[in-house]
Amino acid sequence: MRGYYLISCAAIFITACNTSPEKKEQASEITWSQHIAPIIYQNCSPCHRPGQSGPFNLLSYADAVKKAKQLKFVTKTKYMPPWPADANYSHFVGERGLSDEQIKQIGDWVDANMPRGDSSKEISAPVFKNNSFFGKPDLVIKAQKPVVIKGNGTDAFLIMKFPYQMDRDTIADIIEFVPDQRKLVHHVNGHLISYDEKRQFNYMSGENIHSDTKAQLMDVYKNMHIPYTDKLQPNFPMLTLNTVYYLPGYIPPSYPSEIGGYRLKKNGAFLLNNIHYGPSNKDLLDSSYVNVFFKKDPIKRPIKETQLGTFGVSKIEPEFIIPPNEVKTFHTQAKIEKAISMLSINPHMHLIGKTFWAFALKPNGDTIPLIKIHKWDFKWQYYYTFKHPIKLDAGTTVHVYGTFDNTKENPLNPYSPPQTITQGNGVESMRTTEEMFQFIFTFVPYKEGDEKIDLERKH
Ligand code: HEC
Repeated sequence: MRGYYLISCAAIFITACNTSPEKKEQASEITWSQHIAPIIYQNCSPCHRPGQSGPFNLLSYADAVKKAKQLKFVTKTKYMPPWPADANYSHFVGERGLSDEQIKQIGDWVDANMPRGDSSKEISAPVFKNNSFFGKPDLVIKAQKPVVIKGNGTDAFLIMKFPYQMDRDTIADIIEFVPDQRKLVHHVNGHLISYDEKRQFNYMSGENIHSDTKAQLMDVYKNMHIPYTDKLQPNFPMLTLNTVYYLPGYIPPSYPSEIGGYRLKKNGAFLLNNIHYGPSNKDLLDSSYVNVFFKKDPIKRPIKETQLGTFGVSKIEPEFIIPPNEVKTFHTQAKIEKAISMLSINPHMHLIGKTFWAFALKPNGDTIPLIKIHKWDFKWQYYYTFKHPIKLDAGTTVHVYGTFDNTKENPLNPYSPPQTITQGNGVESMRTTEEMFQFIFTFVPYKEGDEKIDLERKH
């Protein structure tokens, strides 16, 4: 430690004693104000802040200085910022990644003992009002009581209800899940429930949190007071699937006003059919919530979603069984019947996923690159939104390849020794020890000029 201080004192001494302006410029070349702050604020702060997954804040000079050595390490090893998609293959909104130059700057800055530079020239840190990417929400929906996370070191999978009541029907533009215990909330997937006001219901009461994964789902929903209470059919209110989604680093898409939107009845709830908490060693309370941003314009082009592979519209070939001690590749494909504009895509595998590759083959034999992931990482599963909608003509085929490594050399193999891994039955497949091979994409029917729409976030 002493040697380290000596070196940095010597460096300061040289700077102070040298009166030539060029020399001075050189010695204090890389500063927080001029070089590092913009890199950190753009590439790190969106996750390293309250309401997102990064385990500590990176929102100020002091934050960065506290973690300086780690910053150098995680950027040099390219562990951060996480961006599994090959940026030479296809481009997406919010693409993250540092250039070699930026990585070197961070290293040099840390080695020079983190000079701040001229703080009057510093750009200000990004502000995330209400812990949100989008500002002040029109509606914040909280669970009636917080989730108790037991400090027993195991994962918890819950079903949760976030009910709300408004004075009139409206349209939602963006639905954003905000984790409270940001180190523990791993993923969230949920649906929107809408009640017909002419029917009878009591969804504002009833159980809010359910933790028994073995119970019958219908019993769970009854305890949550989700079905209608009158005798009419259907008994179950309308569901809009997959409206709430969260994974570390996920930013809900905000499309231009002519695209997207969800009808929000004045009586409704978000039903998280799966919220996954990672293991904790102490008892904690979680009060995560859902932010809803209303849409000013009517819905013109609602977004559709299709899923290939596991539970999807297309068959996996060969049959989805991964024998022990094998690295095995699977393929699935689907033909586009009517021209569409593809908006965003979500590759999905579990722990032993190794590589993922999707592309579209036009009827004339041309290839449209969609996504290539060379090193699958279960932790970073984004919904990747294209910078512009991708037009897929009728007759185009979407091809997806996924490779799984079920050998003992794979440190993430959940079994030792390796065992045959397949997909489970129904919800069982959600378990991380089972595998999945899915390619989900959102789209709207194609309209002339779609390729020019800018999907880059305006917020
Ligand atoms: C997509 C969200 C996201 C982005 C962007 C991101 N981080 Fe992280 N970071 C995380 C999460 C989540 C963790 C904790 C889990 C882990 O370590 O894998 C983490 C962990 C870290 C750690 C601790 C690693 C350890 O081993 O304990 C450091 C240091 C770090 N990030 C620095 C950065 C820096 C520097 C950037 C920008 C160049 C950045 N992160 C960008 C989400 C992010």
